[in-house]
Amino acid sequence: MGVDSLGYVVFQVSKIAQWRALLERVFGMEPRPRDGAIDYRIDSYHHRLTLIPAETDAVAAIGWEVATVAKLEATVAALRERHVVVTAEPAELCAERKVRQLYSFTCPMIGNRQELYFGPLVSHTAFTPSRGISGYKTGTLGLGHVVYWVNDLAASVKFYEEIMGFAISDFIAWDDNDAVFLHCNPRHHTLALMKADPGPAGELMHLLVEAQSLDDVGYGYDLVRDMGIPVMIEPGKHSNDHMQSFYLQTPSGFWMEYGYGGREIGANWEIRHYDAPMLWGHRFVGS
Ligand SMILES: [Fe+2]
Repeated sequence: MGVDSLGYVVFQVSKIAQWRALLERVFGMEPRPRDGAIDYRIDSYHHRLTLIPAETDAVAAIGWEVATVAKLEATVAALRERHVVVTAEPAELCAERKVRQLYSFTCPMIGNRQELYFGPLVSHTAFTPSRGISGYKTGTLGLGHVVYWVNDLAASVKFYEEIMGFAISDFIAWDDNDAVFLHCNPRHHTLALMKADPGPAGELMHLLVEAQSLDDVGYGYDLVRDMGIPVMIEPGKHSNDHMQSFYLQTPSGFWMEYGYGGREIGANWEIRHYDAPMLWGHRFVGS
């Protein structure tokens, strides 16, 4: 049981024009508008991100991909055994998400809506980026990673290990921060959990997408600066996954990390802990 990758993220956004500028002009994603919402394509999948215009900003859902129906059903059974209410979603929502089978539940640890799916739709046409990028490192590594603040870090890690099929990659503790990094495929981490002090419990801290080329990130950084989008952490390299990246603030408040060159979990991976999140750079803006 457990999940195999981060498949998609659905956002409710109050500032649709700013979001469009960010995803299309900076990240080069391909918009696929439908019924008031906009799906965004970044690889062979029909889409990986969705923007839904709304009064208030929220992460409407994060979607975990599961490789087989048997594994999907086993994961649902394990959640129900833990008294988590899991809903089998109807064909209408499957059609919207572009998947064959879909379940949803509220995570008892994070408190957010999560979806488990099998069978994503892939497109027969070529990905057509909105700017000249090389594309994104996805495939079996999934969309990227998400980082959430949680109240009970130890219990949350246990839940994601025992029910959701994650394994610990490493730990970073620095200043007032305490973070655990978890993988479910060779991507160094698909999920990281941070102690919700100083952060707000249940909130998304950031979503990472990983470019195929460092130049994509560099040109993206210049665009962010030119467009006046707030840079939160300057370019740098992480101590644990070796990702070279920078962080910006989205129009919804949470951050996105635009990265390149993350190392992967191999057969002989050894768990370490670190006392700083960066090797070099990655300075907080204003510090
Ligand atoms: Fe990250």
